[in-house]
Amino acid sequence: MPCKLKWVIAASAVAAATMFTACDGQGDQSKKRAEALPEAQEPIASAKSVVVFFSQTGSTAKLAGIFKEARNADVIELKLVEPYPSTYDSTIAKVGAQRQSKQWPALVNAKIDLAQYDTVFLGYPIMFGSFTPPIYTFLDSNDLSGKVVVPFCTFGSGGRKASAAELKELEPQANVTLAYGITNKRINAEGGIEKAKAEVESFFADLASGKTDEMLMGGYSEQRPLVAEDSAVFAEATKDYAYLGLKPLSVSTQVVAGTNFLFVCEMKAFGGPAVQANVKIFRPLPGRGNPELISVEK
Ligand SMILES: Cc1cc2nc3c(=O)[nH]c(=O)nc-3n(C[C@H](O)[C@H](O)[C@H](O)COP(=O)(O)O)c2cc1C
Repeated sequence: MPCKLKWVIAASAVAAATMFTACDGQGDQSKKRAEALPEAQEPIASAKSVVVFFSQTGSTAKLAGIFKEARNADVIELKLVEPYPSTYDSTIAKVGAQRQSKQWPALVNAKIDLAQYDTVFLGYPIMFGSFTPPIYTFLDSNDLSGKVVVPFCTFGSGGRKASAAELKELEPQANVTLAYGITNKRINAEGGIEKAKAEVESFFADLASGKTDEMLMGGYSEQRPLVAEDSAVFAEATKDYAYLGLKPLSVSTQVVAGTNFLFVCEMKAFGGPAVQANVKIFRPLPGRGNPELISVEK
């Protein structure tokens, strides 16, 4: 059974509702803080940087390798003293308990000498809507004040924006930048590494020019009602994500080498309460593959 289905089955609707609402309300405060901080520009290209990451099943480790290569950075993998269980269901239970109790797991290498680094590329899998618990341990054990922190993540369907907002909230003295994220499906597919490499390069270009999430939305048309073609693209790209209970309400598009679709949807994840979600889908040029789900963000 695919991992994403397993975590859906294992997670209760109540836990999911808590998880999603927990991210609400943080966005506005974080935005205010972010506006008060300088944008990360020159330091990323010139400073000594380190990639710090945690990976449970290897997807984030792949992405960490891409960031390391792209920036010739040092790399440190965070290791749990007591690794998560080998099965997906028991990892869900363990992480759920850690989140509930806020007892963050011990790391073999929690305290890291970051003095020589101006930039920390911080990588994690999304778990329960935000970063994985070992990242809390890392944040509690290190001082990121004054550093540029560039978040990157892998996920089943989304959590990039919510996790970056929580990082900003927890690290107000750091300059937490725009985050990069990719689904585990895409990075692990054939050609996924090359695809992620290209996206990371364009992510660096966006960082260097000081782009925000809002600015990245700039090239889209106005939201409009769906026509049959939009519905077909949506159905194809979301066919493995029935558990999110997505109902598209309107759509806008952006022509790139292919087409980006941004669907505003009603989402009832895990049968929980209805919330609004933005679903990004990419449709390649004809003959170059099927429409694919890029992210689901609240
Ligand atoms: C305990 C647990 C909770 C998860 N929660 C989410 C989630 O809330 N949203 C999501 O999109 N993916 C979720 N996932 C999927 C992971 O984010 C995804 O598989 C990720 O790529 C794993 O990265 P890794 O291989 O580096 O460990 C969860 C996975 C686990 C094990």
